[in-house]
Amino acid sequence: MAASKSELDLDVVGFGNALVDVLSHQEDDFINQIGSTKGAMNLVDAERSAELYDLIEERVTVSGGSAANTVIGVKSFGGSCGYVGRVATDDLGDVFSSDMTQLGIEHTTPRAPTDDPTGRCIVFITPDGERTLNTFLGASNGLTPADVDLELIARAKLLFLEGYLWDPPEAKAAMRYAASAISDGAQVALTLSDQFCVERHRPSFLDLIDDHVDVLFANHHEVMSLFEVDRIELALDLIQERVDLAAITMGADGSVLITPDGRTSIGADPVARVVDKTGAGDLYASGVLYGLARGYDLERCGQLGSIAAEEVIRHIGPRPETSLRQLAGKLV
Ligand SMILES: Nc1ncnc2c1ncn2[C@@H]1O[C@H](COP(=O)(O)OP(=O)(O)OP(=O)(O)O)[C@@H](O)[C@H]1O
Ligand SMILES: [Mg+2]
Repeated sequence: MAASKSELDLDVVGFGNALVDVLSHQEDDFINQIGSTKGAMNLVDAERSAELYDLIEERVTVSGGSAANTVIGVKSFGGSCGYVGRVATDDLGDVFSSDMTQLGIEHTTPRAPTDDPTGRCIVFITPDGERTLNTFLGASNGLTPADVDLELIARAKLLFLEGYLWDPPEAKAAMRYAASAISDGAQVALTLSDQFCVERHRPSFLDLIDDHVDVLFANHHEVMSLFEVDRIELALDLIQERVDLAAITMGADGSVLITPDGRTSIGADPVARVVDKTGAGDLYASGVLYGLARGYDLERCGQLGSIAAEEVIRHIGPRPETSLRQLAGKLV
């Protein structure tokens, strides 16, 4: 659908699994006992999700979902945003929806019926700040092309797709459908989301990248897995030829922004105590996307990414607690 650039009134439209997060602190032994892969996104069914929920005593429940966290970060920088993601007509769906409305994010995706419950992600945070996800996708997984609001997509400067949603065939079709419907002058960004997700979908991710993706977000494990190489340098060389911009994060070592013309390294300020890494990658993406939507240079985009990621790892939960616009000061 073509729209002129002046009609692109949304900086970023996010597209992903709409989830509510249940966060709890646990020791490493606990992760071993339940058999989850530490630091990864482990998919679980409804029954297993309920079992894990019953194992934990103290928990915090907050709205999450990777791309949803990212658009909320963009909003916190002062941007305008929309979101495509499916929740159910149930209590958790109400929580998610009212959070989006309160934050001023346009979320028009039709709700699933009650017997297809809202997805939830049980997050175990270990003493090193690492997060281990156990995700029951629920209603989020049932997104189809018919759920995509093409008018919302056509208003986006950047459409941000979440790799986590690349499992169900209908959702894949929905993401491709949305990517084909962006307006002239708009761009498609993709996050690879998770190393194991890349292992499951390597060839089709590469096809998606070649067909639609202008901006790619990944951490160093994910980009190495994409090209099946064991040295980050090799992966960076390969991604450089593939997209207009690749933003590759490397935890405490910061990130690198790569274009066909060159590379810009971005440092990460040392964070004395990483409380909870949940959302680091999501919020990093929010800073870069906000900067791109504003037409800032790459160094400034990367710095905004670092500021947002550093904010979110200092506290529990995947969404910023302090205004990112204020934290960014003169950078925005
Ligand atoms: N220990 C740290 N100290 C400072 N900054 C950090 C630290 N860890 C992460 N960051 C910041 O967060 C950004 C993204 O982190 P990382 O590479 O861990 O993403 P990720 O693996 O996608 O994270 P997650 O999936 O857990 O959200 C980094 O580029 C950096 O700016
Ligand atoms: Mg990540």
